[in-house]
Amino acid sequence: MFNGVYSVIFDEREKMYRVELVAAFRNRLAPGQFPYPFWHDENKWALYQGANQLTMWFGLKNSGQGKISTEHIKVMQFSTFGKDHTGIPTAITKPEFTAEQKQWMWTDSAGKTQPAVTLFDNLYSANNPNLKKLDTTYRAVALELRNAECLNCHVPDNPDKSKRLVLLQTPAHAEAEMSRVIKSVRQGRMPLDEIGIEKRMSDNLKSHLLSKAEAFAEAIHEAKIWEAGTSAKRISP
Ligand code: HEC
Repeated sequence: MFNGVYSVIFDEREKMYRVELVAAFRNRLAPGQFPYPFWHDENKWALYQGANQLTMWFGLKNSGQGKISTEHIKVMQFSTFGKDHTGIPTAITKPEFTAEQKQWMWTDSAGKTQPAVTLFDNLYSANNPNLKKLDTTYRAVALELRNAECLNCHVPDNPDKSKRLVLLQTPAHAEAEMSRVIKSVRQGRMPLDEIGIEKRMSDNLKSHLLSKAEAFAEAIHEAKIWEAGTSAKRISP
């Protein structure tokens, strides 16, 4: 939450503008409404809950004729060292969840798949004719990712302590990575073993994973084309 109070500071050392917003974290959302399930970790939860400032760093660029203008946001950070927002939430215990359960997706009491924000419903129009195909092809590839043990590493608690965490555990995360999944499996760069060396997959497992991943990638492609077509129609009726 943002209370409208901000400051703009030129940071001499970084040669960047720093825009600081007085902010507060909404800690009472249902667990399925947080796009990144950091609540598997007690420390992370406490940090987010105590956050009172968002900082956006804007780079500078030379726009010619001696003019300097601001560029897009280079980095965003949150911190617990800002001014207090009146809406700062009182600390609550984190939602019941442990990383050991490895349940990155679950069904709520109303029978809906959670986390809701990571589903295709939030990415595509409700009348996109490819939704069903997206769902079935995703389920097929999710099973193969599990069989191939990809989810031993590519999940939010980052068991492998990767510097750049690639997430594959929900439909939306998997969707964003599918072409890279196909490429790295084809080239034999993935999966890795426990000590980080490329691990050979059986031909059977590999061909199953690849064919399911390709079908999912094709469904994504068609869904995107449909979205682009309808928005183009909206612009030029
Ligand atoms: C033992 C842990 C481990 C396993 C198992 C594993 N990965 Fe990875 N994966 C990594 C690490 C570490 C990286 C590198 C991240 C980086 O570049 O910083 C990575 C990177 C990737 C990337 C990004 C590659 C790129 O182009 O940047 C993809 C896609 C990927 N893995 C897919 C998979 C798939 C699919 C499987 C299962 C077949 C799998 N991984 C199994 C640890 C693992």
